[in-house]
Amino acid sequence: MNKWDQIFTTNPQYKPLNEIFLAELLEKIKKETNPNPKKMIDLGCGTAKTVLQFSKLGFEVTGLDNSIVALKKLQEEIDNSKEQNITLINADLNNYNLTLEADIFLCNFVYAFIDNKEFFLKEVAECLRDDSVFILITPVIHKEIIYTEEDKTKIAVDFEETLKLLKNIFSSVDVYHHDYIGTREDYVTFLIKK
Ligand SMILES: C[S@@+](CC[C@H](N)C(=O)[O-])C[C@H]1O[C@@H](n2cnc3c(N)ncnc32)[C@H](O)[C@@H]1O
Repeated sequence: MNKWDQIFTTNPQYKPLNEIFLAELLEKIKKETNPNPKKMIDLGCGTAKTVLQFSKLGFEVTGLDNSIVALKKLQEEIDNSKEQNITLINADLNNYNLTLEADIFLCNFVYAFIDNKEFFLKEVAECLRDDSVFILITPVIHKEIIYTEEDKTKIAVDFEETLKLLKNIFSSVDVYHHDYIGTREDYVTFLIKK
């Protein structure tokens, strides 16, 4: 059992994607990049409902995660739903050769846990077409802010370093900052193109 298998045996309840934000993001993608996105891949899907959210919107969905425990629980949920267009893959993003094709690659609340970040980003870059996008959502920390224990900095990544690495690998990186409860938290969506 890996660390994430142990976490998922305790049934953590990660939140689904905010549907208002998702609808706005999809509108933007349709207008600017791909008028008819059909296929999405959720990189580090866990047990969150994201794959079901996209499937209900008519997408053909692939969920990928390195926790077999999470994938078994998610598969049960998929089986109990009416959704049929979801495939799950058990793989480690630290060393997995991504050869998957999609219009939308999503990675939500996972990036901080990937050790081999440059390898992972380059694998995604290889898979992107001119009309596909990569949505990377992650908590971030900023160098000029003093954080305390309760700020959970271990689940966040340095904002400036992340932006620099993304700009080195991808041609276009848009940034959206989200406020959420808490004084110093910053949750960023990077909307990325090849
Ligand atoms: C905080 S959970 C988020 C899950 C989901 N994306 C969500 O929004 O709720 C982090 C997920 O990343 C997965 N993960 C962590 N490291 C990974 C890796 N190296 N390869 C694949 N998945 C990984 C974990 O198994 C877990 O499902």
